[in-house]
Amino acid sequence: MKVSVLSADTALPGFGSEHGLSLFIEACGRRFLFDTGKSQLLTENAERMGVDPGTADFIVLSHGHSDHSGGIDAVLQKIRVPVYAGKGAFERHLSKTADGLVDISAVTGYRDLVEEVDGSHEISGGFLQFSCDVTEHPQPPSNIRLMTERDGVLVPDDFCHERNLLFEEDGLLVVITGCAHRGILNILDEAERICGRTPDVLIGGMHLTDPRGSEFDGDTAGELCRRMGDGMIIAGHCTGEAPISIMQDRMGDRFVRLDAGLEYGIRSSSDPAYR
Ligand SMILES: [Fe+2]
Ligand SMILES: [Fe+2]
Repeated sequence: MKVSVLSADTALPGFGSEHGLSLFIEACGRRFLFDTGKSQLLTENAERMGVDPGTADFIVLSHGHSDHSGGIDAVLQKIRVPVYAGKGAFERHLSKTADGLVDISAVTGYRDLVEEVDGSHEISGGFLQFSCDVTEHPQPPSNIRLMTERDGVLVPDDFCHERNLLFEEDGLLVVITGCAHRGILNILDEAERICGRTPDVLIGGMHLTDPRGSEFDGDTAGELCRRMGDGMIIAGHCTGEAPISIMQDRMGDRFVRLDAGLEYGIRSSSDPAYR
């Protein structure tokens, strides 16, 4: 498989960054976008990388926040492909800030292309969008500021609309998460329940730092490294610099920073050159 990072909070030299996430994935004979960043930056970075988002077969949205969906119309105005999002992703979403409520809803002018999926959903080619219904581990404390509107009433977002993605290529089990609002260890638990084993590769934003404070969750970062064993983690976006340092120290070159501009190929575990 190959992952190309089109939008992230940090970038390799020569590429733009923003508070957002967008990945272009080539796996199992298909190409797709996992999230579309905050703006049309994904198309600009893609052009610099020689990646064409217009060749995507489909788009997956992890959840209904604008930092994951803001570039969607920049893609859909060029190609008409299905967009798979969890049920409720396009409800109104707001963030409580010191200046009041800020609307962070996902919006698109191409709602006819959106399929809102209930529960888990298989995408042809061997991809599974899965929700995380069991939360035995804590969820990110910063969730407390994130609200959704139900029947005209603002309520704390429970992130039941969040979907993660799972697929296996040549024995390599990959899990991708957008922001891990349901808790990265809960998502790992759910992936293990589905597959009967720990994924080989975990990719995405893991929300291990409070974006408005200095607090970070070093315990979860350490636990993630322990549970991933010989596998690898590619993390950035909302993960936070301190947890990234912990994972870099613990995992060495099995940890990769998710920087915009990164193109990373991963061979399968059945490939002798894999490890
Ligand atoms: Fe989010
Ligand atoms: Fe995010």
